[in-house]
Amino acid sequence: MSSLKRDLDRPIQGSPVILVASNPSNPGETDRPSHQVRPSFHGHRSLRCVEHPRRRLAPQAFASIPCPHLRGESFPLLLGPALAKLGVCFPIRPLANGMSMVELGVNIDHVATVRQARRTVEPDPVAAAVLAELGGADGITIHLREDRRHIQDRDVLILAQTLRTKMNFELSCAAQIVQIACDVMPQQATLVPEKRQEVTTEGGLDLRPKSQELLNAIAALKNSGILVSLFIDPDDQQVHLAKELGVEAIELHTGQYAEARGQEQLSQLQRLQQAAQLANDLGLKLHAGHGLTYQNVRPIAAIAGMRELNIGHSIVSRAVLVGMKEAVREMKLLLNTP
Ligand code: PXP
Repeated sequence: MSSLKRDLDRPIQGSPVILVASNPSNPGETDRPSHQVRPSFHGHRSLRCVEHPRRRLAPQAFASIPCPHLRGESFPLLLGPALAKLGVCFPIRPLANGMSMVELGVNIDHVATVRQARRTVEPDPVAAAVLAELGGADGITIHLREDRRHIQDRDVLILAQTLRTKMNFELSCAAQIVQIACDVMPQQATLVPEKRQEVTTEGGLDLRPKSQELLNAIAALKNSGILVSLFIDPDDQQVHLAKELGVEAIELHTGQYAEARGQEQLSQLQRLQQAAQLANDLGLKLHAGHGLTYQNVRPIAAIAGMRELNIGHSIVSRAVLVGMKEAVREMKLLLNTP
């Protein structure tokens, strides 16, 4: 048992944290909007549903909560294993044309990168996750690297207890990290290659060797009821191998597309479209990510069957800039207020 598992099992007495309550009132009541997003204060105990009214209801009780303010319809609700344990649910939102929306997984690793640059406590990725959820994130992505260069075990532990959307846990196949994922039970785990010297994930997994480590990681995660996604290059052979390995989803690596320009970028987009088509044909859930920005994301979001995009660096970079004016204004005020 990892120490993280022991921490998860320990009863938590709560210092208050801000969270997004997606279904703040009595979930049993169907005559009022149930998906207002609002910030509120909870203690950790209530985050774990210890004192929450939902706790008395079985997870299935949330299987179809009407959302009258969302086009007056009832929406199907998906219950991930960890969310079901917590009694938390989230909607799958169909578009008017019947297709599902592309979900945004916000990768908050680089909030932790800034914190670790000073080995201090701020900015806290947990706070960033709350604000990302307030902004409409459909999920929060974190990569617990073996060298712990950004996300720390403590972040994983608190996020597991406080996220109101879903956790996409990125990890290498290293047994110790896989064990942590199995203990934390995120809704989704994305297996990625990891090299110590790299600045960020470089390239997708090469599934051809079908290494024992990879097979073990997939089996352990699946046995824990976690949806497994494999981060691969947009290559037909890799997509076929992902299917053979029995995973539910793939995340196509968009890094080469993001770095290319002009005609070369178009070719990279076509590569992604072709791999996406194959994934759709094989019944694999389709995700993509890496290097996506406000400038290059739209053609990727428009790929048929795209369900989820995981974006980090660009969003964190923009957040620093759009928040700078206010942060300086607040400091100026402190300096000049008696
Ligand atoms: N998807 C995967 C598998 C990743 O490894 C990363 C980077 O951690 C991302 C998405 C996000 O990439 P970026 O920070 O460039 O948006």
